[in-house]
Amino acid sequence: MARILITSALPYINGVKHLGNLAGSMLPADAYARFQRARGHEVLYVCATDEHGTPAELAAAAAGQDVAAYCVEQHAAQKAISDAYALSFDWFGRSSSPQNCELTQHFAHVLEQNGYIEERTDRMVYSPDDGRFLPDRYVEGTCPVCAFTKARGDQCDNCGSLLDPVELIEPYSTISGSRDLEVRDTNHLYVRQSALADDIRAWVDSKADWPMLTRSIAYKHLDEGLIDRGITRDLAWGVPVAHNGMARPGFGHKVFYVWFDAPIEYIGATREWADATGADWKRWWRLDEGAADVRYVQFMGKDNVAFHSVNFPATILGSREPWKTVDMLKSFNWLNWYGGKFSTSQGRGVFMDQALELLPSDAWRWYLLANCPEGSDTAFTWEQFATAVNKDLADVLGNFVNRILKFCETRFDGVTPEGGEDSPLEARLHAELGARMAELTASFEAIEIRKSAQALRAIWVLGNEYLAEAAPWTAVKTDRARAGAVVRTALNLAALFARLSAPFIPTSARIIAQALGQGEPAVWPGDDVVAELSHVRAGVAVRAPEVLFRKVDDAQLAEWALRFGGG
Ligand code: MF3
Ligand code: ZN
Repeated sequence: MARILITSALPYINGVKHLGNLAGSMLPADAYARFQRARGHEVLYVCATDEHGTPAELAAAAAGQDVAAYCVEQHAAQKAISDAYALSFDWFGRSSSPQNCELTQHFAHVLEQNGYIEERTDRMVYSPDDGRFLPDRYVEGTCPVCAFTKARGDQCDNCGSLLDPVELIEPYSTISGSRDLEVRDTNHLYVRQSALADDIRAWVDSKADWPMLTRSIAYKHLDEGLIDRGITRDLAWGVPVAHNGMARPGFGHKVFYVWFDAPIEYIGATREWADATGADWKRWWRLDEGAADVRYVQFMGKDNVAFHSVNFPATILGSREPWKTVDMLKSFNWLNWYGGKFSTSQGRGVFMDQALELLPSDAWRWYLLANCPEGSDTAFTWEQFATAVNKDLADVLGNFVNRILKFCETRFDGVTPEGGEDSPLEARLHAELGARMAELTASFEAIEIRKSAQALRAIWVLGNEYLAEAAPWTAVKTDRARAGAVVRTALNLAALFARLSAPFIPTSARIIAQALGQGEPAVWPGDDVVAELSHVRAGVAVRAPEVLFRKVDDAQLAEWALRFGGG
């Protein structure tokens, strides 16, 4: 048994996330966590809301709320929605927690002690009317690159250029709208990433098994040359720079930049979990306290890779303390929405809460996992979604389960029959199933999500093929013992499917297992196919569940396409 630490990128606090966020980090991480738990490993899967930074402040202001109260409310909302998708976090924390505050200050302190922090004077946009500096998104204006008139201080949404607020042409405050802005000097702390570049490169070099996408992004940043990174801001909301042990004149009103404290919250969330449960967080994070045999796997979209392969490692490596670093960084491309990207700021696409108004979570889980943007960007389409639900779930898996259970009810009084002799048909089934199961397990181990989904679907298909060939409805007329053997095999197949499917569609998997009188489908099957097809014993009462998967019809699709766009 191994210990596996799993994290998915922390969703920003500002509002319910869209399906693109779900598909590119939390959902694959959850499937993988469920798989590894079922394999018998000790898994810790943590996530949290990313609560600092200007997006949080601006969203709170737009909602007319105090930012701390806004974060409490939005954290609860995101927790509830992740429960509705059956995301099996061991802890869903908050980057504004006291635990993270303390850790963030600790890292800044040791970086400073090791000579990796430098104080510099920056020129920043200041608004006399607002009486404050306007970092990042607090200032908008015309993009110096493409002339888009609503470029944000940190980035232009039109051309994608990363910007410095002082570069904007005709800037204005997003707080008051004031155009009476000036540039003033202000001091900030920088992490001397340039001095850590060799350490970071050597560390990345040691990750030869990282996926191509991850490695290419990491090396792109390393090859461009690491520049020192400003890690403080003139904001009120965030982790305060000043604290006991770090008295820095002039920093009394400054906080750490959100991208400095956010990844530290992976550790912070683990501490929150430990404080709440009495568990030991250090055996997951401190190499000197047992974490050396933890395998740490991170999940994220490609826009987050640089922060996790370069910037966060700079924090960790620069501390010169024995912290656990990531072993496998699994990254995803974009799930695109008709004619562009999903967009939180522009409300484009389907959001996690809206999706559940249309169909239950397993329909979304299956579609988004089976079609996740793993090798390249992927486009969401209503047609593909309908195919995943109607064909894969309803016609292939649902139909198989219902058909055999109904047949057992009508012909065997809903009691699992005694098994007769196996025929060559069963021998062939065992061989094919064994091969497919090995493929599924290997793909899952390699975190190849789409391949795993394909292997699983192929396994469901084997069930239908077996039933069609064994035809118990014909056999029952002439050879009841043979029909009984087929029914028992098929019921066992359904129970096996529940266990193999649980990482993808946990709610449906549980319903199937219950229908077969089985416990939680929480143990991953071993290699012995015959043994794995014997859990549903003769004499056990079974009953067909209500419709497992409802189909989507054309009228619904048309309505949804109209409501959300697309199609
Ligand atoms: N909130 C960021 C995003 O959604 C991800 C932060 S990941 C963290 O893009 F590790 F830095 F927290
Ligand atoms: Zn631009």
